[in-house]
Amino acid sequence: MKKIFLEALNRKSLERPPFWFMRQAGRYLPEYRKIRQRIPTFLDLCYNSELAAEVTMQPVNRFKPDVAILFSDILVIPDALGRKVTFSTGMGPELEPIISTNDIKSLLVNNVNNHLSPVYETIKKVKRRLPEDVSLLGFAGAPWTVATYMIEGGSSRDFLKVKTWARQDPERFDYLLSLLVEATSDYLVGQIDAGVDAIQIFDSWAGVVPSDQFKRFVILPTKKIISNVRKLKPDIKFIGFPKGIGPEISEYISETGIDCISIDSTLSPNYAATFLQDKCTIQGNLDPVILLIGGKTMIKAADQIMETLGHGPFIFNLGHGVMPQTPPENIELLAKHIRSQGEK
Ligand code: CP3
Repeated sequence: MKKIFLEALNRKSLERPPFWFMRQAGRYLPEYRKIRQRIPTFLDLCYNSELAAEVTMQPVNRFKPDVAILFSDILVIPDALGRKVTFSTGMGPELEPIISTNDIKSLLVNNVNNHLSPVYETIKKVKRRLPEDVSLLGFAGAPWTVATYMIEGGSSRDFLKVKTWARQDPERFDYLLSLLVEATSDYLVGQIDAGVDAIQIFDSWAGVVPSDQFKRFVILPTKKIISNVRKLKPDIKFIGFPKGIGPEISEYISETGIDCISIDSTLSPNYAATFLQDKCTIQGNLDPVILLIGGKTMIKAADQIMETLGHGPFIFNLGHGVMPQTPPENIELLAKHIRSQGEK
């Protein structure tokens, strides 16, 4: 049986777009909350391969998307590198912030494959459970986005620390990014060895990088990861999600070597169809807030996106992650609607 997600990544146009939903596993699902309650911390869940595999399968069982995304987090990389990472409820992630050169030198760059072996176990378990037409997507955070959490010590509003550091001492910042490139490349090769079919690189905070630094801190580290991984795994497909980067998106596509660009909800599908779709597959970009409204409003907005982008290589998705307040029934309705496109 064919995996239509991989066909779309190979630039084929299809009868209906393959679809999945960014952050499709998580707190908005009662079955997730039930499992989450049994485990003391979020990272314990990420490293419990049996439960992480179960949580990966939850949205697959409910919505029958064409893709399962591995259940893990982008912040397992700082955790593997030896930084303290905690997730307290309602607070978001908290990290012991990187301050000095010694903090960078103390990162355990050779610890990744060992520390993250439970994640590879999750992948093997999910592979055994997935229907054969459903693809498994691995992922990692891009070095810039992961570095923002490591330097700010968590989520941030103004990114003052990381932006000041990158401006005042770009060589030292490059050094940190280069370690993240190596760790992330190792981790992704490990995910591919364990069985993922493709990779998404989340650069959720790419949009806050000043334009004169964009090439150095967003494009080059992503390009290096892709070329490192492809040296060992020449056929693996990459999706890039450089959220909020605006017109720089063309350079990101032509320079990084990605196969598919995931667009956020601020970029018009029309722009993507006209200027980007001849260069790579497009993924996106329904506003996740529309999923709180549901009904006809949601279906109409989804139809508009499919009409505009459905003629070329396209994967239906959201412009960002499912919000915790989302009623799962709305996603069920949307999934059914997209699946019915192939039956017309
Ligand atoms: O289906 C899936 O996508 C689940 C796997 C997944 C998680 N995080 C689980 C998670 C993925 C792909 C991520 C990516 C991720 N993590 C990103 C990039 C995507 C994006 O949304 O921009 C980022 C920036 C993070 C960092 C992170 N992890 C934050 C800021 C938070 C707290 C706020 C929030 O969104 O919940 C997390 C925690 C987290 N990661 C949860 C889940 C299910 C909730 C924690 C819990 O259940 O206690």
